Amino acid sequence: MNDTFLKACRGEKTDFTPIWIMRQAGRYLPDYQKVRGKVDFLTLCKTPELAAEVTIQPIDILKVDAAILFSDILIPVEAMGMNLEFHEKRGPIMTPPIRDKSSVEKLSVPDPEDRMRFVMDTVRLLRKELEGRVPLIGFSGAPFTTATYMIEGGTSKNFLNTKKMIFQSPELYGSLMNKITATIIEYTKAQIKAGAQAIQLFDTWGGIFSPADFREFALFYVKQIIKELKNWMNTEKIEPVPIIYFVGETAGLLEEIKASGADVHGVDWRINLDDAITRLGNNPVVQGNLDPLALFLPKNKIEERVKDILSRAASAKGHIFNLGHGVVPETPPDNVIALVEMVHRLSSKK
Ligand code: CP3
Repeated sequence: MNDTFLKACRGEKTDFTPIWIMRQAGRYLPDYQKVRGKVDFLTLCKTPELAAEVTIQPIDILKVDAAILFSDILIPVEAMGMNLEFHEKRGPIMTPPIRDKSSVEKLSVPDPEDRMRFVMDTVRLLRKELEGRVPLIGFSGAPFTTATYMIEGGTSKNFLNTKKMIFQSPELYGSLMNKITATIIEYTKAQIKAGAQAIQLFDTWGGIFSPADFREFALFYVKQIIKELKNWMNTEKIEPVPIIYFVGETAGLLEEIKASGADVHGVDWRINLDDAITRLGNNPVVQGNLDPLALFLPKNKIEERVKDILSRAASAKGHIFNLGHGVVPETPPDNVIALVEMVHRLSSKK
């Protein structure tokens, strides 16, 4: 198997820098559009054969060093009892928004093999279909980012309802976060049992907080998940699965993030990777951090940025190349293919 990605996660020496790309399976790929033209997005997530097919597309097309399960961070929200729809223009809509005690009480902590069996079936199918070509990353939203969707009922600009709940009804927020945290613990354990070889927790909206609020209202719950997963893998004698923690707008929060307990820290593009490494301290393993929109540059300019990031990563114990956030639908696929080739060529130690 090409296990370069897993080696890098563990901080072991590798022959080249591994790369995968957040949202690598998606609308910028004509092959994805073809599958997606036949079914709506949620049906795609819930049909293991199709979800596995689009998961493997970027392995064949881009030659990336890891596959990421095709699903969405909002799948557990539906399993907890909310109604979920995806609209072409408005994005995800969850009803009714969670704003009071009775709506929190109605939410369940679902058995993942019951309510989200299609996800674990996709993982099991992928481990067969990948035939060990590359490792499979499972994922979940982190509790806070998941909570924003539940409280706002969809995507938000200023997270007014979320912050109102946090600042005006902290106990209600705590009880919601405890349920989400318990759900994510069971969900990520189920993915690992089904065969996921790494887990990424997405805290896309973590950057809306001051450092102290981030620590209290987001990181506190992430630490619980990581600690529980590590204890569980240890007692169950499961080979340790690396945990990656990605926070959007990372720069203001690095001193907090370093306490997460994660094996790998995702870094966005708003900070130089060497600065992030210094501020994380303790010889960290980092993942990132090309600006997703830098993929609209001419190839020679992309190459300059790849060289820059690779040299800034030299002081880390391990580096996994990635974008600082997901690839956008308008991206020229050719430039994404070129990026993967550049990272492999420019980092090769052979
Ligand atoms: O990375 C991958 O290739 C794996 C699949 C994946 C998707 N979503 C597929 C998807 C992953 C890891 C996600 C995570 C996700 N989903 C996040 C966290 C990461 C991030 O990008 O910040 C968030 C915030 C979501 C919630 C979500 N899903 C929104 C707000 C939307 C609508 C906006 C949009 O980009 O369309 C989605 C839909 C979605 N998730 C699509 C894909 C491929 C597009 C659906 C389509 O085909 O129409």
